[in-house]
Amino acid sequence: MKKSVFSGENSVLDYLNPDKNEYIPLVEIPKVLNPFYDDKVRIYTKLMNTLPLTNVKSLPAFNMLLSSKEKGELDKVNTLIENSSGNTVLSLAVIGKLLGIDHTKAIVSNEVSRGKLNLLRIFGVEVIVNKEPICPDPKDKTSGIYKSKILASKHEDWFNPGQYTNENNPKAHEKWTGPQIWDQTEGEISIFCAGLGTTGTIQGTSKFLKSKSNSITTIGVSRIPNNPVPGVRTKNLLKEIPFVWKKYVDHLVEIGTKESFKLSLDLCRLGLVVGPSSGFAFAGLLSFLKKQKNLDKFRNKNGEIIAVFISCDSPMPYVDEYFEYLGESEFSKIENEHLLPKNIKSEIPAFSTNSKYEVSVKKAYNMIFKSKPSIVWSQILSDKLVEINKDIKILDVRKKDDFSHYHIPGSLNIEYKEIEDNILKYIDILKNNKIIVVCNYGISSQSASKVLRDHNIESYSVSGGMSEWSRKNLPRWKPNVCKLYQ
Ligand SMILES: Cc1ncc(COP(=O)(O)O)c(C=O)c1O
Repeated sequence: MKKSVFSGENSVLDYLNPDKNEYIPLVEIPKVLNPFYDDKVRIYTKLMNTLPLTNVKSLPAFNMLLSSKEKGELDKVNTLIENSSGNTVLSLAVIGKLLGIDHTKAIVSNEVSRGKLNLLRIFGVEVIVNKEPICPDPKDKTSGIYKSKILASKHEDWFNPGQYTNENNPKAHEKWTGPQIWDQTEGEISIFCAGLGTTGTIQGTSKFLKSKSNSITTIGVSRIPNNPVPGVRTKNLLKEIPFVWKKYVDHLVEIGTKESFKLSLDLCRLGLVVGPSSGFAFAGLLSFLKKQKNLDKFRNKNGEIIAVFISCDSPMPYVDEYFEYLGESEFSKIENEHLLPKNIKSEIPAFSTNSKYEVSVKKAYNMIFKSKPSIVWSQILSDKLVEINKDIKILDVRKKDDFSHYHIPGSLNIEYKEIEDNILKYIDILKNNKIIVVCNYGISSQSASKVLRDHNIESYSVSGGMSEWSRKNLPRWKPNVCKLYQ
């Protein structure tokens, strides 16, 4: 066969088959983005966004379906069902169709964005919305993971691949990702890093690499609570994963929303077109390297350190999230924006931040509370009243749903849009106080705080918002269910 030409009856299936393709590219991160470059640390990324289905989960999807087909499990199947709001189910739908399975249904969290839902529909996925968090507990009977298993067992012609328990998920990476990286680095790799979602990637790849050399260090990256990054879990949510992934992870690193999205932008602008969870894995690797007192134990015979992180997918499905989490300041201004129809103008005005009115989470904390965080935490946990300084009001401008998941004790919730459109309604409640305004990421709070100041109310926006507040583990009131939403 000519290189990269796929023809005949199985042309597309061959095109999707890693065994019939060139290796997935491994590209070194240039010096501008590698602070360890001069110390001979060579950082490479494995670009799963360059796979035909543009994402890392297409490997497990291919392996799970092809293995089931070989065993005859798909003989009578006309419908696949899986709990996934993204890459896995999108890949299953395409590969399923090629194997003659007409329908793929996705049980999807009601917290998913419209953009994500529509992306699934573009690929022909039939969407069923379920009331559940984005990262559900596989054992929870109301979760889509559980429901898809039950639904599949009730219909003879339905099949649930079950990425959280199916060994062919990690095995895909043991078969392809691990051996390719070993070969591409000529066995010189000493550090491997990947984000943790189902944990299939880290398990399979690490298992293979460690079978080749027990001196390879593996780093798993989880996300900080209340810091969304698509596809990956917090430490707490990882406890619910049935796989024995811990065996394959030497170090666990926690990373937040902002640095993930920001590093992904930096990579995209260099020509590596990768999404937020790629920036997340990269940030995890950099954070690990920074924490090492001495890097020498990782050096090969040439004195170099070869480190590899996984880039999972592309930025395209997450366009709106980049603006929501990073704010307009990371992006070029649109000239003549006033000519656009109102509905496509940016919701949040981009104005230069007045640092005088922006406070760090620590400063905000000290303005709000009389006692230190450990005391306030214990008051919250024992249901006692938490005292806040008299002249302060905390105004949380997030959506009602976000507010009801968790918030700073004593805060008042008025959504950003309300402040912008109907501020006069709220003047009486807010005046005569210093207002601390908080939102998710410290972006709409800047705009809300400016609206208040324009009405002569002294107000300060909390830099980094509730995501930064959570990262510092400052006290927040959470209903019991909230654990699941972290
Ligand atoms: C974008 C993205 N990044 C990372 C991951 C995590 O990979 P794994 O499930 O193999 O741990 C996923 C998994 O769904 C994902 O979709």
